[in-house]
Amino acid sequence: MPLSFLGASALGLIATGVAWLVVAGRAARDVTADPVVAAVHLGVLATLAMGLLGALHQFVPVITGRPLRSTVAGYASCALWVAASWMLPFGIGLSAPVVTGLGGASAGIAVLVVSWNLWPALRVRGKGPAVTAMRWSMAGALITTYLGVAFVGDRQASWFALSARADLAMGVLGVFTWLGTAYVGVASKLWPMFMLAHLESRARSVRASVWLVPVGALVLAAGLLAALPALAAGGALVLAAGLAAHLVALGAHVRRRRRARDLHLVFVLTSAASLLGGVALALVAAVTGSAHPRAGRDLVAAAMALFGGWLLLALVGHAHKVVPFIAWSVLRARGVVSNPRGQALGFADLYSARWALASYVSTTGGVAALGLGLAIASPPVMRLAGILLAFTGVVVGANLGRGPGRVAHAAPAATSAASGTPESAPTR
Ligand code: HEM
Repeated sequence: MPLSFLGASALGLIATGVAWLVVAGRAARDVTADPVVAAVHLGVLATLAMGLLGALHQFVPVITGRPLRSTVAGYASCALWVAASWMLPFGIGLSAPVVTGLGGASAGIAVLVVSWNLWPALRVRGKGPAVTAMRWSMAGALITTYLGVAFVGDRQASWFALSARADLAMGVLGVFTWLGTAYVGVASKLWPMFMLAHLESRARSVRASVWLVPVGALVLAAGLLAALPALAAGGALVLAAGLAAHLVALGAHVRRRRRARDLHLVFVLTSAASLLGGVALALVAAVTGSAHPRAGRDLVAAAMALFGGWLLLALVGHAHKVVPFIAWSVLRARGVVSNPRGQALGFADLYSARWALASYVSTTGGVAALGLGLAIASPPVMRLAGILLAFTGVVVGANLGRGPGRVAHAAPAATSAASGTPESAPTR
């Protein structure tokens, strides 16, 4: 079931790339135009939220030691989120209020189903900061989505005058309290495993990040919504401290790692660089925005793109570890124990390293081009970003999706070995 979320996320990335290709000219003139809002939501909802919701369905039971309430409800939330995350942008982009309304309604129902399904596991006590992060992330999902539902209602019935600050508040809540906090929590469990680095999961930097990131983003968003600059500045400082703690934890894992440098590490470090780039652009926008409002708005959009890049690079990098891990377990359970060369089946047999490297280059190029294209309002650079992001979706989906099938097809002789005692998972 988590693989269904991840597969849908790859499709979402293709759609996001195509959308930026189409809206690039419009975005250079006005980054708040409806077709651009549509492209933004294909990115944040159909790609990032889709992938991170899949990660939560995979890791909440593993980390808490408690099952989901229902696998069927997991599939239902995947279907509802697909409906929401495609209908909402299409409705906004094509000015079709009924479709936008249906998208908003699906999103509202989907987050309720996800919360109902995960809550018994998330109530567990004594499992450390990762669970705290997941609880915060769930709260962030509910708050952002119901703010979104209110925005959708406003589009249908003009409930209130929506300011640019309110729009930005939604971006902050969605990117940091919801999606960013999910990544901060899941990473604290995955980095030790994937880097072979022992860092106490209750280390101070990890404990600080799972509180400061979501709380700082909430306060910043409240300051933006209530037009209280001092509150917003205080929230921004707390959020920055939380992100710094997250990077300190990353640095500690990297220093203590016993695994040689691999593509996962390069993805994670590039993702962190994108986060730092976003912070730098947000600072420049805050300092220069009042003197140059147009440039300031473009810089804020570029910063948001780099924050999205932080999560996209992390998602794609971790997918190259997590998907083969899940597929390996499924194949072994079906009796496939060797690769096509007759050796013991390893994770590296389940995807092509060359295509994984290509997807690293295209994700990094796509994120950098989107940030740059928005910052300098350049349609050709944004179009390049669209092409690279769509290419990434195709390559990652095909590389991770087809590998297990190829191995299963090529290794029928090994089937009988399935009845043997299960071996531990390979390290490569
Ligand atoms: C990770 C989650 C989300 C993020 C990061 C996000 C981000 C944003 C941003 C940055 C804008 C302003 C775009 C601009 O003016 O250029 C926006 C607008 C909007 N969002 Fe979201 N959003 C998220 C989730 C949602 C959800 C779940 C819904 C619906 C249920 C939604 C509905 C809307 C609507 C309708 C607008 C347009 C508001 C208007 O009329 O100006 N968003 N969002």
